[in-house]
Amino acid sequence: MSGRKKVTVVGAGNVGATCAQELARRDYADVVLVDVKPSLAAGKALDINQAASVLGYEPRVVGVDASGYDATKGSDVVVITAGLPRKPGMSRDDLVKTNEDIVAEVTRQVARRSRNAVLVIVSNPLDAMCHVAKSVSGFPRERVVGMAGILDTARFECFIAQETGLSGKEVTAMVLGGHGDQMVPVVSATTVGGVPLDQLVSKSKITKMVERTKVGGGELVKLLGTSAWYAPGAAAAQMVDAICLDEQRVLPATAYLEGEYGIRDLYMGVPVRLGASGVEEVVKLKLSPAEKKMLKVSEAAVRDVVSVLTHN
Ligand code: LAC
Repeated sequence: MSGRKKVTVVGAGNVGATCAQELARRDYADVVLVDVKPSLAAGKALDINQAASVLGYEPRVVGVDASGYDATKGSDVVVITAGLPRKPGMSRDDLVKTNEDIVAEVTRQVARRSRNAVLVIVSNPLDAMCHVAKSVSGFPRERVVGMAGILDTARFECFIAQETGLSGKEVTAMVLGGHGDQMVPVVSATTVGGVPLDQLVSKSKITKMVERTKVGGGELVKLLGTSAWYAPGAAAAQMVDAICLDEQRVLPATAYLEGEYGIRDLYMGVPVRLGASGVEEVVKLKLSPAEKKMLKVSEAAVRDVVSVLTHN
């Protein structure tokens, strides 16, 4: 047995393929790409493998269609990106009915072949799809986690770097709450080179960046005619790194809360410690009264969507 990890990415669309490519370049895992569309995953896998000698990694990506789920057996992590993306004018929540069935079926297929895997959910509406995956797989909350916070935070960080002209590497931000327009960019936990953001940038400019972050996904949908993929794919790969390499990083992610932040039985974006077992801890962050209020609004929005699910 090699020490290589095994990661499955379900959905070979833009987000899934970007995530698979990012992971292939890291070179610590064999990657299995799955898509219901015949030959799509095989084609993308072959293309990623053919970039291997140019970019310097092993060509160990396999692509299968829905009849090839056996290839996913024994995965350490399964990333689920399957489902329809948004079209202009749609909210993420408009996708709930269609994507619930897709995510439920995918979860059924992967969970019985990789009983110990950590599931990283990317499909939208994200918070609700995490409920579906947890309910269908029966996995403990540690092993069903959603990707949203890293993406939303990365968007906020990008705007801050551009606004201040300072290196993006110095920007540390945190965006919590649901992955919808009510998400909560936590300004009180945002610093540039250790200096609190509100000491560097005017209140009105911060407000503008916060508002732009909240509708960051929608801005991309308008520009592209579909949803984004480079940042979402990279963000999902960062979570896979933290799990496969047992990094013990504190990252914002969508976790099932059992009372933390005053929220119970609901998936929400919070800081978590990510390691080999998945979500090893929900990290508590002191929020300002205004941020707490925003989190309550976000909670209500997520509960609304979750309430229409069959698998919740
Ligand atoms: C976004 C989609 C992927 O925020 O939810 O871009």
